Amino acid sequence: MTMQERRPRDRGPKGRVLDDAALAEVRELLGGRERRRDLLIEFLHLIQDRYGCLSAAHLRALAEEMRLAQAEVYEVATFYDHFDVVKEGEGRPAPLTIRVCDSISCMLAGAEHLLGDLAAEVDPRTIRVMRAPCIGRCATAPAARIGDREVDHATGRGLLHMAREGDTEVVVPDYAGLDAYRAAGGYRLLQKVRDGALATDAIIEIMEHAGLRGLGGAGFPAGKKWGFVRSYPGPRLMSINGDEGEPGTFKDRIYLESDPHRTFEGALIAAHAVEAERIYFYMRDEYPAVLAILRAEIAALEAAGIVQPGFIELRRGAGAYICGEESAMLESIEGKRGMPRHRPPYIAEVGLFGRPTLNHNVETLWWIRDIVEKGPEWFAAQGKPGHQGIRSWSVSGRVKEPGVKLAPAGVTVRELIEDYCGGMADGHEFKAYLPGGASGGILPASMGDMELDFGGELAKQGAFVGSHAVVVLSQADNIRDVTLNLMKFFKHESCGKCTPCREGTEKLVTLLREEGAPNETAMRDLETVMRDSSICGLGQAAPNPVNHLLTHFRDDL
Ligand SMILES: Cc1cc2nc3c(=O)[nH]c(=O)nc-3n(C[C@H](O)[C@H](O)[C@H](O)COP(=O)(O)O)c2cc1C
Ligand code: SF4
Repeated sequence: MTMQERRPRDRGPKGRVLDDAALAEVRELLGGRERRRDLLIEFLHLIQDRYGCLSAAHLRALAEEMRLAQAEVYEVATFYDHFDVVKEGEGRPAPLTIRVCDSISCMLAGAEHLLGDLAAEVDPRTIRVMRAPCIGRCATAPAARIGDREVDHATGRGLLHMAREGDTEVVVPDYAGLDAYRAAGGYRLLQKVRDGALATDAIIEIMEHAGLRGLGGAGFPAGKKWGFVRSYPGPRLMSINGDEGEPGTFKDRIYLESDPHRTFEGALIAAHAVEAERIYFYMRDEYPAVLAILRAEIAALEAAGIVQPGFIELRRGAGAYICGEESAMLESIEGKRGMPRHRPPYIAEVGLFGRPTLNHNVETLWWIRDIVEKGPEWFAAQGKPGHQGIRSWSVSGRVKEPGVKLAPAGVTVRELIEDYCGGMADGHEFKAYLPGGASGGILPASMGDMELDFGGELAKQGAFVGSHAVVVLSQADNIRDVTLNLMKFFKHESCGKCTPCREGTEKLVTLLREEGAPNETAMRDLETVMRDSSICGLGQAAPNPVNHLLTHFRDDL
C-alpha cells in the first residue's frame, strides 16, 4: 500500500476536509517561495499575519508542505511569544492586541496602573491586553503597542481612543534614506574598500587602534573578531544582531529609525573584510517601524546595485529575548527554537549553517564609517582617561531628560544624570542605578562616581555595563520590588534548556514574592549555582540584582 492510499483513512474524513482547505491556504500564502527549513519562522509569520493566529490545521498543513514533522513545527511555533498557537476547539485571540510593556522603566512610569485601567475598560472579545517584556521605548515610558502602532507615554484613554479610530497601523518616522545618505558622502568608503584602495588588513588595524568594542553587551574587540573569523576557512557568513531585548536598551532602534545606512555601510565593509557570502539581519519583531525601514532600504540597496539581490537577508524575530544571545540568534535564523549552543566551538569557527560567522550588534557597525573617515585617534580619544571611545548610553528612569546620550566610555552615572539628562526628575533623589539593563546588577548611589566601562571597578562589584542601558532609581523605588520585576523578566525569558536557569529564575521569583524577610540562604545558594552552571549569559547574569539587593539594599528587604 502506498503512502498516498493510506493517508485519508489515517486522518479521518473531518480532518481531511479541514486539512485540504488549510493546505490550500498555506500554499497560496507561501506562493513561489522556496520551502527551505530555515524559513520556517518567516512562514509562521506569514500565517499569523494573515489569519491572526496559528491554528492546528495550518500548522499541520505547513508541516506537510515543508516536509517537516508536525512536532518540529509545533515546538518552534510555541517557543516564540508573538505566535498565537490555537489548538482544535480553542477560541481565536481577539482581533486587536494591545501589548503593554511591564519591564523596569515602564514599571517605574506606571505600567501597572495602565494595565489596570485597560483591564477595567476593554471588551476582551474585541481587544486582547497583554503584558510585554521591554519594547525599547524606555525614555518615553510607559510604552505600549496597539496592533502595529508603537505608542509613547501611553494612557488607557489614549489607547482606547486609538482602538476606536482604527489607529493601529505602523508609523514610520522620518529617516535618512539611501539618496540622502549618499548625498552626504555615504557608500564612498565602501567603494574604496571594494576597489582595494583601502586594504582589509588596514581596516582591521584601524578598528583595533580605535578600540572599537562590541556594543551588544560583551565588549569583544571588533578588529580582533574579524581576524578570528578570517582565520577559518570559507565560505563565511555574517549576521547583524538587532534583537535589542535587554530591558532599558533602545539605542539600536534610535539609530535604525534615523540613519539606517550607516549600519548597512559598516556591515558591508565588515562583510567584505571577512569575505562573507551573505548577511543575515536579525531584527526583533517588537520594532515594526524598523522592520519597515529595513525592508525598504534593503530593496533600495538592491535597486541601486550596491548589493546583489538576496545578499542581505532580513529575518524577523518573534518575541524572545534569548534570541539576542548570538548562538540562539543563529538557531533562530536557521528556523529553530532560539536556544543557545554549547561552546566551544564559537560561532567565529562554527556558526550559521555550520559556517564561520561574523556577528555584530547594530551600533558596533554604525561606528565603522566614522572611525575610518575621522580616524581611530578621533574615536579613541573621546573616552575618559584610561578608557577608549564614545558610547551610546540609553538612559531612562527618574531623570529629567531620558534618551540616548552620546558620552565617553568611563563616564559616571552622576555625570550622566547631571551633565546629560538635566538632573533628577522633580521630587526624586538619586538612590540607585542599573548600569547595564536587567543583567548588569543594581548599585547604590554611593557608587555613583564609578567609571562605567567593560570590566574594571564594575566587574569587581559583580556588575557590568553590557548594552549601556542605565536606569536611574530614586527614593520612590523599593529595590526588592525592582529586583522582583527584573527576575520576573528573566523567568519569562529563560529558554528552559538548562536546569539552573530554568528552575533558578522561577525559585528566585517565588522567594522574592514571599511575605516578610526573604530566605537569604536559599537565594545565595541559587545565585551560586546559576552563575556557575548555567549554559549562557542569561542564567549566569540573572542573579546579579539579587546579589546586590542582599548586599547593598538591606533596608528594602
Ligand atoms: C542573554 C543575552 C542577550 C543578548 N542580547 C543581545 C542583543 O539583543 N543584541 C546584541 O547585539 N547582543 C546581544 N547579546 C550579545 C551577543 O551574544 C553578542 O555578544 C553580540 O551580538 C556580538 O556583537 P558585538 O561584538 O558587535 O557586540 C546578548 C547576550 C546574551 C547572553
Ligand atoms: S542559561 Fe537560561 S537562557 Fe541560557 S541556555 Fe540555560 S536555560 Fe536557556
